[in-house]
Formats: sequence, structure tokens, C-alpha cells
Amino acid sequence: MLTERDVKEALRNPRPEPPWKAEPLLGSVYGEAEIQAAVDAIREAMDISRGFGFSASPIPEFEEAFARHCGCRYAVAVNSAGPGLDMAMRSLNLQPGDEVIVPSVNYQAAPLAVLGAGGQIVWGEIHPRTFQLDPEDVAAKLTPRTRAIFPVHMNGLSAPMDELMAVGSEHPHPVHGPIPVIGDAARACGGGYKGTRIGKKGLATVFSFHTMKNMTTLGEGGMVTTDDEAVHRYCRSVRMYGSEVEAWGTSNVMTKVQAAVGLVQLGRLDGLIASRRRLAHERTAMLEGLPEITPPYEPPDCEHSFYLYTCLVPEAWAGAKRDRLMQRMDEEYGIGCVIANRPAYLSRKILAEHTRGQKTPLSEAVTERLFCVSIHPAMTDAENRYIAAALIRCVEDLRRE
Ligand SMILES: Cc1ncc(COP(=O)(O)O)c(C=O)c1O
Repeated sequence: MLTERDVKEALRNPRPEPPWKAEPLLGSVYGEAEIQAAVDAIREAMDISRGFGFSASPIPEFEEAFARHCGCRYAVAVNSAGPGLDMAMRSLNLQPGDEVIVPSVNYQAAPLAVLGAGGQIVWGEIHPRTFQLDPEDVAAKLTPRTRAIFPVHMNGLSAPMDELMAVGSEHPHPVHGPIPVIGDAARACGGGYKGTRIGKKGLATVFSFHTMKNMTTLGEGGMVTTDDEAVHRYCRSVRMYGSEVEAWGTSNVMTKVQAAVGLVQLGRLDGLIASRRRLAHERTAMLEGLPEITPPYEPPDCEHSFYLYTCLVPEAWAGAKRDRLMQRMDEEYGIGCVIANRPAYLSRKILAEHTRGQKTPLSEAVTERLFCVSIHPAMTDAENRYIAAALIRCVEDLRRE
């Protein structure tokens, strides 16, 4: 842990300007290569015989490169992760009453995709240390109507895919067989799991290239990865009105300019993740021994992408005291913190009404203690040290309350 002298010295630095937001509005790093790629793609499209359409080069090149990066057979580029999640759920052809188990501690997108595809959301609990969908709770909530397990690779760490897939195989659906696992990896691009990249395991995985994410295709975009030929065909077709599979569809295409920039961003991704990981590990070392802060956990077989640096306060500090800690970090030191996320049914009425009678008390308790402290690949070592020092100082101040 930083000594008192280290803390004083680090805090002698001015507050970062502009302040570090909890989730910086550009989560990646852009440079001249992205600008050049966008300009070149626009110039190419200025040829009247080419224009911007349809699903033309470099979109297939970006898809192939992304599939290779994940070690998958297929990748389908989309205009944002939301439609990708919708497609993945719709590919299951859910019937009324069919259930999908999804962690309650979640962004709204995945549960809304279940709802949109006509399924019944079943809330799963998260593991209190990894914040990932808990396989034991999933096993307890399976019924003959369970059609899918839908983890989110929370905050950049992989969900326990092997355990979740084992639960799905051990309790097959009476008609459809082994229950598939579909992952929401919107926050986890570039993370690793047991020697594979996130995106390899499970029936399908959906990534986001939104402006705040680990990499971005001009602010919006996404990708669905899969090894399954039928899911691949379905998503590719539904992305463009569904005619090839004779299913409902709409237009969710990515543009050529986005794909051109995506190829450059993908080339940077390993470096961006390495920077996040180094900053996170160094921060954890600087906080080591501070009893009130439990830093993020990285299982030995996972490579956390550290989209967020997710901490816990002790039970005695749950709720209001955790909130004061976050407020102090922001107001006194210019460091943003965010609760990512509370159970989705607490913030979206439509989800609460759809799942009336269901609760996830363990997850509710954990998220009263959880908070994420700003992290970004462009953060300097001095800023990271300042953040660790500010957290230590805020904890010491609150200890006296
Ligand atoms: C966990 C999770 N899932 C899905 C999404 C939706 O991604 P997009 O904005 O690309 O549709 C987000 C975006 O914030 C997210 O954090």
C-alpha cells in the first residue's frame, strides 16, 4: 500500500483536468490512423459505382479479422450491441412462457432482448466476488421451460463459461437439448478466458463498439461471434431484413467507414487492454492492505479487460457510506465513480413488472457495496497513483465519521 508520505506526495499534484469520469466518453484511444482509415473509406465511397453499400469491403475484412481475434468461425458486424443481443435471442425462436436466465446485475440491454424476443426473464444472482452470473444459482433456477443462459461478461471479466455450459448440458431442454449459453460481452472486448478470447465459448457472443467501450467504431457498432453455422446465417440475414432465412428482420448494418476504423482499432486492442491491465494491477498493489476496499478479483484462468475497476466496501459501509465515498472522490479529487450496475429491475419499470415476484437479494446486497473507479488506457502512471492516493485519503476520512 502507498505510505502516508506517498499519499501526500501524490495528492500534491493538481486534480486531473479535465476530471476523469467514471466511464470516460471515449473508452478507447484514437489517432491519425483512425482518421486516415475513415478518410480513405469515404474517398473510396465517393466513386459513384461503389458508394457506401452494401456490406462491402472492408466490412467482411473487419468481420474476418474479429473472428480470427476471438478464435471463432464467424463474426457478424452490426450497428450496435443492442440489435446483436436481440438477434441472438430471436434466433432461439422463443415461445410464450420460455425462460431465459439472465443476471439481475446488468445493463438493461440483455434483459430487454429477452423481453423483445417474447421470452420470460428469470433473474439470476451474481457471485459476490466476481460479479458474474452464479452457475449454482442458475442450476437452482432451471425449469423444463429454460431455453437459454444469458450471462453478461461483467465489467470486462469473463463469465464462468465452462461451468455455465456444463449446467446447460447437464439439464437439457426436453425438446431442444442442451441449454445454450449466449454471452453479452459489450464491456469485455479483448478479455481472455482459459487460454481463449472472450467470444469463443458459448453459442454466440455479442460485443459493443459504443464510444465508451474498450474499442469503438466511430461511437456506435457491435459484433456477434459464433461457431454455429445456423446462428451465423440467421444473424447475417436478420441484419438485413431476414430474407435469406425467411424470418422477421430489419436493417442493423455497420457502415464501411466504421469497419475501416474498426480494423485499426482492432489492431490497437491488445495494447489498449495491456494498458488497462497494467494500470489496474498497479492500482491494486497501491491499495493492498487498505481494509475497507476490496479491489477487483481476477481469477487465475482469466484475463480481465478492466473495462471498469470494480471494488467493494465492507458491509458496514454499504449504501449511504459507499455513496459518500463516491461523492468525495468526485467532489474533492475530480475522480468519477459509478455503481455498475444495480439490479436492472430496480431501474426499469417494464422489467420490474415483467418479473413481478422475483428478487435477487444477494445481488441487491452486493450492489449496495459495489462501486467502480475510473480507469482508462490513456491514464498516466501519475494519475493512477493520484487516484489510489485519493481513495486511501477518502477512506481514512470516512473512517472517522
Ligand atoms: C453490458 C452491456 N450490454 C449491452 C450494451 C449495449 O451496447 P450498445 O450501446 O452497443 O447497444 C451495453 C452498453 O452500454 C452494456 O454495457
